Parts: sequence; structure tokens; C-alpha cells
Amino acid sequence: MRKMLAVVVSHVFSGVAQKPGLRGLLASLNFSNDVTCDIKKCDLYRLEEGPPTSTVLTRAEALKYYRTMQVIRRMEMKSDQLYKQKFIRGFCHLCDGQEACCVGLEAGINPTDHIITSYRAHGFCYTRGLSVKSILTELTGRQEGCAKGKGGSMHMYGKHFYGGNGIVGAQVPLGAGIAFASKYLGSGEVCLALYGDGAANQGQLAEAYNISALWKLPCVFICENNRYGMGTSIERSSASTEYYKRGFFIPGLRVNGMDILSVREATKFAADHCRSGKGPILMELQTYRYHGHSMSDPGISYRTREEVRDMRSKSDPIMLLRERMINNNLSNVEELKEIDADVKKEVEEAAQFATTAPEPPLEELAHHIYYQNPPFEVRGTNKWIKYMSFS
Ligand SMILES: *[C@@H]1O[C@H](CO)[C@@H](O)[C@H](O)[C@H]1NC(C)=O
Ligand SMILES: *[C@@H]1O[C@H](CO)[C@@H](O)[C@H](O)[C@H]1NC(C)=O
Repeated sequence: MRKMLAVVVSHVFSGVAQKPGLRGLLASLNFSNDVTCDIKKCDLYRLEEGPPTSTVLTRAEALKYYRTMQVIRRMEMKSDQLYKQKFIRGFCHLCDGQEACCVGLEAGINPTDHIITSYRAHGFCYTRGLSVKSILTELTGRQEGCAKGKGGSMHMYGKHFYGGNGIVGAQVPLGAGIAFASKYLGSGEVCLALYGDGAANQGQLAEAYNISALWKLPCVFICENNRYGMGTSIERSSASTEYYKRGFFIPGLRVNGMDILSVREATKFAADHCRSGKGPILMELQTYRYHGHSMSDPGISYRTREEVRDMRSKSDPIMLLRERMINNNLSNVEELKEIDADVKKEVEEAAQFATTAPEPPLEELAHHIYYQNPPFEVRGTNKWIKYMSFS
């Protein structure tokens, strides 16, 4: 090892190697392996103790989180572009600005735990293991998309990931059901059931809270509060904007949703609470979306351009992590630039594929609806509609 480094060092100093890769390697000699970071104390409801107010961030974790957030950011920007070019049709809800939520939540649970969320789901698809290529290809409705090109933005699924639900709030009782399955099977897994501040006023949430608390289901209810429902600020739509208290008999946490470490630590805390048999817990992640609610919403009729600009320049989740990494010698500008270039390339290649891949054939229109081949045909439908299933 020492010999190898000596070779690298001599090459750099002799001017032979000018590649950023080698510069990065040389610089890495000075990087810290980990650092202890302070995080904001969570507001607590019906809890004596909350998540810690400091945590250790390793260099490897930091690099992974940074890359993952950048991939999601770029993927959403690319989706915006592909939508405007009419490669993507129909509904499309982007999550740029909220990257610390999905990446932080994933960092606080196990891959075998469960996640179900609303239609603002692209980030979760990626953190749950779907590739950028399979997500963008789904968005353009092509055969090799992760839902075979038939689901689109609102209907994508992955391992231990149950969508992307198209009905406002409907994923929350489904999440309680997934948590019930975990408890019934004794698997020790938890379910994260997410919704936005707009859906927080849905009646079905109250029903899900009730049964989850009664049956002590291992469910973490998570409100991603980005301050605006479809076209309305939370103050105009919610009698109480303290979403973390809205479970009433369920304990709650209010978390800085722009800081990935705050989200990670709160999630670990909430998951432990569930795993120890104490029943459900509620988390409110205070976050912000840069795009409008959907592609038909320019996003500035109910908030000012200045507000969006201000959030971007002062509270951006990627910027916060980046500053933390650089200030603490976990990385440097050059190394992060390399990651950015790499991410850009990955997303460009995925988009290239997504816009040129074939669409699913018409004969398969009604396939993949049922788990097994159903013993019936539907009268009055075109003769080419055969309900058949293929995995
Ligand atoms: C609360 O849950 C219990 C147990 O499932 C159920 O009997 C009751 O009807 C529920 N209440 C509401 C309002 O859903
Ligand atoms: C970062 O590294 C530089 C150069 O090696 C050193 O001067 C500085 O004290 C380090 N800072 C921290 C926070 O470790």
C-alpha cells in the first residue's frame, strides 16, 4: 500500500498524472474518516425523550448520501425537461427540494422494512433500489420501465416498496395494513407510511391512527410537510399545522426535514419505538418543494419567487450536506465535482434510453393486472383484451 501511494504521489508531483481521480486520491490522504455533527433538537409530543442532538457521520456515508441526493435532484430536473418535451405524459409530481426526506428515511431503516407513499414517489423509488434508467423509462411509458411502462409516475413499485398511490391519503391505511402483516407474522419489520400536509386532513388517516394505536402496529406515520398542498398554504387549509401532534393519542416528533442527519436519527428513533412494541409514532418532516405541486402548477401563484429563491439559497438539503462535508474534511470540492459529473452522465444515459426504448405491445395491454391467470374473460371488451399474468 505504501509503495502504491508513493507511486501515485511521485506521478502527481512529476506532473505525469493530471487526472482528477489521482488528485482525489492524493487529497483523500487528508480526509477525516468521520465527524460528530450537531443536529437540531426535535419538538416532541407525548414523548419524554427524543432522538439524539448529535451524531457521527462517516466519510463513506456522507459520500453515499451526497450522491443519492444528487441523483434524485438530477433525475427530477430531467423529468421536468422530458415532460415539457412531451416524452412524459399525464400526472407527474416532482420532489426536488425534499431529497433529505427520502434519503434520510432510507438511512434510518433496514432494506427489509417497508415503505408506502403518495404519488410524489420518484425519490423513494430510487432509494428503494430501482435504477434511474428503470424509473425514467417508466415515466416515458416504455416496456422496460419498472412497471413495464404501464404505471407511469404514480404507480411504481419495488422490493418492500408499495408505491406511489394515486389516491390522496389512501396509502396511509394501506401502510397500517402492511404494519399489521409485520406484527401478525412477527417479522420485526416496521412500515413507513408517508403523506403530504395536504393529505393530512383526510378522514381515513384518523381511522388508520385509531386502529394502529389500538393494535400497537409497528407503523411510522410520516407527514412530509412542504408547506403547500395542491395550491394552498398549510395555514389556509389546516386548523392545526402542528402535524406531529395530530395523532392525538399517538406520540409525535417534529423534525428538520432539510437536514439528512436529523431525518436519519429521527427515523432510527421512531423505528426503535415501533420495534420495541410501543405501537405507532408520528413524524412531521419540515421540508420544501421547489417545483409546483404537479406539472400543471407553476408553483408561484400561492407563494413568492423570493421565498423559493430564499429556500434554495439558505436551506437546500444538498448544499447543507456539502458544506458539512467540506468544512469537516470529509471531502473536498474536486471530489464532489467528480461525483456530480458522474451523476450527470448516469442520468443523461438513462434519459437517452428512456426516450428511445420501445413501448409495450398492444397485446399486453391487460396483462400484469392479476397475480395469476383469472378464470374468466370480461364480456364486451375488445377481443385482444385477455387478462393474463406474467411475472
Ligand atoms: C377504531 O378501531 C377499532 C378496532 O378496529 C374499531 O372497532 C373502531 O370502529 C375504530 N374506530 C373508528 C372510528 O374507526
Ligand atoms: C482539514 O484539513 C486541513 C489540511 O489537512 C487542516 O489544516 C484542518 O485543520 C482540517 N480541518 C478539520 C476540521 O479537520
